Amino acid sequence: MKMTPALAMVGSLLVFWASVLVAIILPAITMTETPSTAWRPWTSAETAGHDLYVKNGCSYCHSLYVRVSDWDLGADRIAERGDYAGQNPAILGTERTGPDLSQDGGEHPDDWHWAHFTNPRYTRPLSLMPSWEFLGWPAVSNLTAYVQSLGSRDADYRVARQQRWKAPAVRAYAGGPDVNVDWLHAQVPAGWLAMPNPYPATEAALQRGQKIYEGFCLNCHGPVGDGQGVAEKYLSPPPLNFTTLKRHLAQGRYVGGLFYYQIMNGITGTAMPYFKHELESEKIWDVSNFMAVRFLGYTDAGTAPRGIEAAYEPAWSNAFQSLAPKGVRP
Ligand code: HEC
Ligand code: HEC
Repeated sequence: MKMTPALAMVGSLLVFWASVLVAIILPAITMTETPSTAWRPWTSAETAGHDLYVKNGCSYCHSLYVRVSDWDLGADRIAERGDYAGQNPAILGTERTGPDLSQDGGEHPDDWHWAHFTNPRYTRPLSLMPSWEFLGWPAVSNLTAYVQSLGSRDADYRVARQQRWKAPAVRAYAGGPDVNVDWLHAQVPAGWLAMPNPYPATEAALQRGQKIYEGFCLNCHGPVGDGQGVAEKYLSPPPLNFTTLKRHLAQGRYVGGLFYYQIMNGITGTAMPYFKHELESEKIWDVSNFMAVRFLGYTDAGTAPRGIEAAYEPAWSNAFQSLAPKGVRP
């Protein structure tokens, strides 16, 4: 076929209208507003928060949808079309300079968000998120209501769980350091309480632990571990003062497994976040050794009973004597 100006014109019009059909007309015809099972309508505070989210460009750094490829980030559920029913605009976002927020509701209690929106460095020392303190109150409160609604009914469940645990945590704190520590430890399974840190507290391990502490914990628990970091005045209960654990140690107990459990899972109802998605096992043991040595002048690292092996190497004889476990000769 010979290319003529008329043919080129017809061809380009065809391509143009085909794209309009696929990208605009078909989606408009097939689009349904059927809500998903998780969906629920927003309250007025949540709607105001969504408005602030759109106007302040939060979506330049955050997405609001979980993709199939996100399972390994710890997702509980993949986003469905019906999750966004009635949203105008439904602002999905494509950038992930910060984390996806579509399931953020109930991940933290409100006081954590107040500290974080005031200055993200308060709760995460190395954060590059801007401070939103200039928006003032009630904007910060509305933003908090909005992010606490992300995940809809699933979020409501998590928020309710935070609220349920907050009351006893605040009560225990009001009871004084001993009551507080006893209450905190009553929530930790006995096996973890009875476990020393399986990693040796070498100089290098303590240096690694210090770096993690400075990057994740510093502004809550403070430079000397007394709970008086800059975030303290926003939080109830405030971050734990680790010196209140001296009585626990005086009773001949360990802190290795206890710290590991608390750091891995966080403490629901308090601002203490969980780190299981962010810190690998060794990092948790290292920061736990760092806190024990630096703040309590003590370490149970490597003492018996060893709960788990820190590394597989010691269990093997040597590279040439086959790979049979220690004690088993081929
Ligand atoms: C310049 C990029 C950037 C912008 C803009 C931004 N954020 Fe963030 N945000 C981040 C980063 C990075 C993190 C992770 C570190 C942290 O916790 O601060 C984060 C974390 C968060 C978290 C905590 C998530 C969690 O559970 O740990 C929330 C909630 C949040 N942002 C909300 C917002 C809202 C609402 C806005 C708009 C008002 C916003 N962000 C604007 C980068 C940004
Ligand atoms: C946003 C503030 C915040 C951050 C960040 C934070 N914590 Fe906490 N932490 C708390 C609060 C609040 C508590 C509970 C205080 C209470 O209920 O008395 C707590 C409790 C703990 C406990 C419990 C100790 C026990 O005896 O039960 C450990 C261990 C701990 N934090 C370690 C860490 C480590 C390690 C990091 C950094 C990787 C960290 N925390 C980051 C606020 C924070």
